Amino acid sequence: MMSAMQVETKLPKVGTTIFTVMSQLAAEHGAVNLGQGFPDFDGPQALRDALTRAMNAGHNQYAPMTGIAALRSAIANKTARMYGHRPDVDQEITVTSGATEALFAAIAAVVRPGDEVIVLDPCYDSYDPAIALSGGRAVHVPLDARDFSPDWQRIRDAITPKTRMIMFNTPHNPCGSVWSADAIGTLAELVRDTQILVLSDEVYEHIIFDGAEHQSVLRHAELAARSFVISSFGKTYHCTGWKVGYCIAPRALSAEFRKVHQYLTFSTFTPAQWALAEIIEQAPEHYLELPAFYQDRRDHFRALMAGSKFQLRPVAGAYFQVVDYSALSDSDDLVFCEWLARVGGVAAIPLSAFYESPPPGQRLVRLCFAKSEALLAQAAERLCAL
Ligand SMILES: Cc1ncc(COP(=O)(O)O)c(C=O)c1O
Repeated sequence: MMSAMQVETKLPKVGTTIFTVMSQLAAEHGAVNLGQGFPDFDGPQALRDALTRAMNAGHNQYAPMTGIAALRSAIANKTARMYGHRPDVDQEITVTSGATEALFAAIAAVVRPGDEVIVLDPCYDSYDPAIALSGGRAVHVPLDARDFSPDWQRIRDAITPKTRMIMFNTPHNPCGSVWSADAIGTLAELVRDTQILVLSDEVYEHIIFDGAEHQSVLRHAELAARSFVISSFGKTYHCTGWKVGYCIAPRALSAEFRKVHQYLTFSTFTPAQWALAEIIEQAPEHYLELPAFYQDRRDHFRALMAGSKFQLRPVAGAYFQVVDYSALSDSDDLVFCEWLARVGGVAAIPLSAFYESPPPGQRLVRLCFAKSEALLAQAAERLCAL
């Protein structure tokens, strides 16, 4: 008998993601799913109509490698208007198949074997494997557990001659925290006179609350000159399944980024690029009104949860509510989430899933409020009954 082929894994730490595990549990137990981090509603009708029109107009072959000019130009205009920085349409903007592709391409473009990349925990789960596949080492530095802000002393201590890049995310998944202008300034000071690059994951750039302005790295000329800035239309236009994102980076970084993107996907779903170009230019009110849209949902959900035993952490941006369940249970967060899906009837994500080593005794889970009012009401009713 032939023995099965064995292959030594390149990613020993990677298994089935917690998102899949929790969604399966939710389905088995009829739990309301606040675990999945995406909306259960559609993007603007005008966008969907534009997509259909683009397909019927014959925009169905490969797009240019860097993205169609109309979309890159719409991105440049939006970026100039929002952040006072106008990236060069031809040299500095690359359209990608979601932010995930952009993250991978940026990392693969600059990280070499032996390089260290500082990531701030909790962090999005694609960072670490992308760094590992490039032969680099992710150096996980926890955010300040009190308010999920950067812990500058620990970040400073983590920098070594091997540090190639620092990555961060604002507004933040899963914590809902946002970086202040001061934090951006501190980062600039920290990397000044070094060769350290910056990767700023800004996929929730338009989901920020209470009148705050998103502190894009692109507002800071000195940092913008050494940064990859990544965004996702999936978050902004409620169409995560379209997988269209982009990377803005100075010429030299974009050139290296494109060498990877060219052989990773080459180009991105053409009709969606035409549709997005059209809506960004013709209906800027969509992204300008997004803060109010999600702030209403945040406030509504928090009001519904006010009578529960969960302690609600502040949410300054993105569409996640972190809750402390220590008044309900002393189990670790994975055990608690399994119980919550089975017995409590609500699926959530344990915060430990976003850490290399979760702080001991932390009792936090993430709930996604990018859901219909009816679903949020049903979830809150169940959570308040615990
Ligand atoms: C922080 C963060 N970065 C990147 C992504 C990936 O975005 P995309 O769906 O466009 O690949 C997500 C998606 O949830 C995210 O939360």
